[in-house]
Amino acid sequence: MPKAVKSPAMNDTATLQNGQDAAPTPLDGAAKRYFVKTYGCQMNVYDSQRMSDALTEDGYSETTDVQDADLILLNTCHIREKAAEKVYSAVGRLRELKADRASAGKETMIAIAGCVAQAEGAEILRRAPAVDLVIGPQTYHRLPDAVRRARAGEKVVETDYAVEDKFDHLPSPKASVTRSRGVTAFLTVQEGCDKFCTFCVVPYTRGSEVSRPVSRIVAEAERLAASGVRELTLLGQNVNAWHGVGEDGREWGLGALLFRLAEIPGIARLRYTTSHPRDMDDALIAAHRDLPALMPYLHLPVQSGSDLILKRMNRRHTAADYLRLVERIRSARPDIAMSGDFIVGFPGETDADFDATMKLIDDVGYAAAYSFKYSPRPGTPGADMDDHVPEAVKDERLQRLQALLSRQQADFVTSLTGRDVDVLIDKPGRQAGQIVGRSPWLQPVIIDEKAAEIGDIVTVRIMRTGYNTLYSTPD
Ligand code: SAH
Ligand code: SF4
Ligand code: F3S
Repeated sequence: MPKAVKSPAMNDTATLQNGQDAAPTPLDGAAKRYFVKTYGCQMNVYDSQRMSDALTEDGYSETTDVQDADLILLNTCHIREKAAEKVYSAVGRLRELKADRASAGKETMIAIAGCVAQAEGAEILRRAPAVDLVIGPQTYHRLPDAVRRARAGEKVVETDYAVEDKFDHLPSPKASVTRSRGVTAFLTVQEGCDKFCTFCVVPYTRGSEVSRPVSRIVAEAERLAASGVRELTLLGQNVNAWHGVGEDGREWGLGALLFRLAEIPGIARLRYTTSHPRDMDDALIAAHRDLPALMPYLHLPVQSGSDLILKRMNRRHTAADYLRLVERIRSARPDIAMSGDFIVGFPGETDADFDATMKLIDDVGYAAAYSFKYSPRPGTPGADMDDHVPEAVKDERLQRLQALLSRQQADFVTSLTGRDVDVLIDKPGRQAGQIVGRSPWLQPVIIDEKAAEIGDIVTVRIMRTGYNTLYSTPD
């Protein structure tokens, strides 16, 4: 009987000393199982899927029970506070599991992937000797080989930025063959960042901006569509900086790419995330006006409403630039819902700077948002700035900001009552007789199961709303 799904964080007494003398049984020839836990952004979710594909091709199968895994893969995030510490404590807990399995004659490889792996590299092996393998986001195509070397006894660190494009070396997504991905899927079109916002680690963990070629993206989208995917979310740290030579031999931006992907039979909905305000060009704004498949929902982080802080953050736009941009997008697509990211308590942020952020939020009106206390990241310019804001001030500002954003979100959700909304059905409901879909603005919509099947897009009237859920069913 499979046990309940567990996270790697289970039990915190660690007993195994590295180099214990129980000789684990080699796995070659036997069924090999991997367990993967993903932290961080959607790109990590996508990367975990691609690593799973690579392992599947190498003869592994996935398990949701960490105790049963011959390979435990933690795909980590480094964006905010204590990311590395969390990984070390998760590994501390896994050490005991590794020891238990070793005494039963079973070998367990622990692999750290993702942005903490890239940032910490070999330091992880020094501080957490139970780890066998450290692999950064640009080298995932080498994962099966790295696992083999680790199993032969090598302590492996793969964090060099590969010269070759990792995407060319990863196996094709086998959505239809290996694991069911449902009707929505992520597709990475761009990776890395050259913007160097002064608070952010991403340019250091993901490297410089790389756009995947059109032919690869189209081929992957076609495969996903053939496996039943109806909604694609294009991913990139700066997705709207994507560019490439199109099928017509001309230079395409994201707008042109979206038009091309909308032609693929089966693909009914497109989204993209995350965008930088400086890369919203006219063609992309026009796509919001002219391409019905492009959902009227845009995540466009601004971080702060104060020009002084924006400058210190190296965002390279002002609050007024952002507001003008939102106005242009809204005149192209009046029903567009905006979402954003905000950081409070960046070094030097005064009450007046914070008030400017609150004012910007008031002016824009967000349907959803993510907000964070500034967290100094070692190695970024922000961490070395003067005038760090006291934690209590950050707390207080975050509370006020989140209260305003929650009110705006609640207003948006309740404004949908009585409206007819297109819904992509994506899963069975928790209650019998119900089925769940997604609105154009990403809220779950609860529908009578007789009304539609998974993969359908249906128009339903919203009868009532919950905190972030829409109901087309009566009470
Ligand atoms: N590439 C995207 C998002 C990157 S990270 C962009 O440019 O917008 C996602 C969000 O995490 C950021 O938008 C920011 O709001 C937040 N973030 C990044 N670094 C942070 C830090 N050091 N402290 C607090 N929040 C941070
Ligand atoms: Fe980080 Fe700025 Fe790049 Fe976004 S644009 S990934 S916030 S450096
Ligand atoms: Fe985290 Fe790396 Fe994504 S730091 S947010 S997993 S790019």
